[in-house]
Amino acid sequence: MDTWNAVTSRRQVRDFTDQPIPEENLRQILEAGRRAPSARNSQPWDFVVVRDRDRLQRLSGVWPGASWTAGANATIACILTDTDDERSRLLQRFDLGQAAMQMMITASGLGVASGQAACADQELAAEVLGFPTGHHCALLIALGYPGDRPVRPIRMPSRRVFDDVVHYEKW
Ligand SMILES: Cc1cc2nc3c(=O)[nH]c(=O)nc-3n(C[C@H](O)[C@H](O)[C@H](O)COP(=O)(O)O)c2cc1C
Repeated sequence: MDTWNAVTSRRQVRDFTDQPIPEENLRQILEAGRRAPSARNSQPWDFVVVRDRDRLQRLSGVWPGASWTAGANATIACILTDTDDERSRLLQRFDLGQAAMQMMITASGLGVASGQAACADQELAAEVLGFPTGHHCALLIALGYPGDRPVRPIRMPSRRVFDDVVHYEKW
């Protein structure tokens, strides 16, 4: 799939089939995250890949809005370091956003659907994922093949209209 199709095909998917994602595709998705740009090349992320059904189920309890991730074929838990410094926190989040998007677009290009979820219960996340103290789980990216319709370009996305968003030369 070309880049434009991968971009326009990505959507939030919360319902997945049992079809497994081939290992090489999952690895390519993770590699896309690893290659993402970050401020001063700090690469503030670690990715914990969860495929075990029981662990996926437990992980889905970290936030009511993440319950559907229990049905994913794989979930990438994105881990960041704790910091009290506001600037570092913002940069980390910005960097992770780029890595997350890069992984989701790569997934989409491979016909793999993705869905993001927040993570609220850090105690549970640490118990399930085993990340060290001084870290937290910032985002879950659930992956799999969609249960409703295949990954394909969306003609009319639910978005603000182009001319409302884009300003040329001056707002
Ligand atoms: C940072 C972030 C956190 C999100 N958290 C959740 C979540 O906890 N649960 C959920 O179901 N969707 C979550 N979403 C998905 C958004 O609701 C979804 O991306 C948005 O409605 C746009 O839909 P689309 O991705 O299909 O274009 C999150 C998205 C982002 C970017």
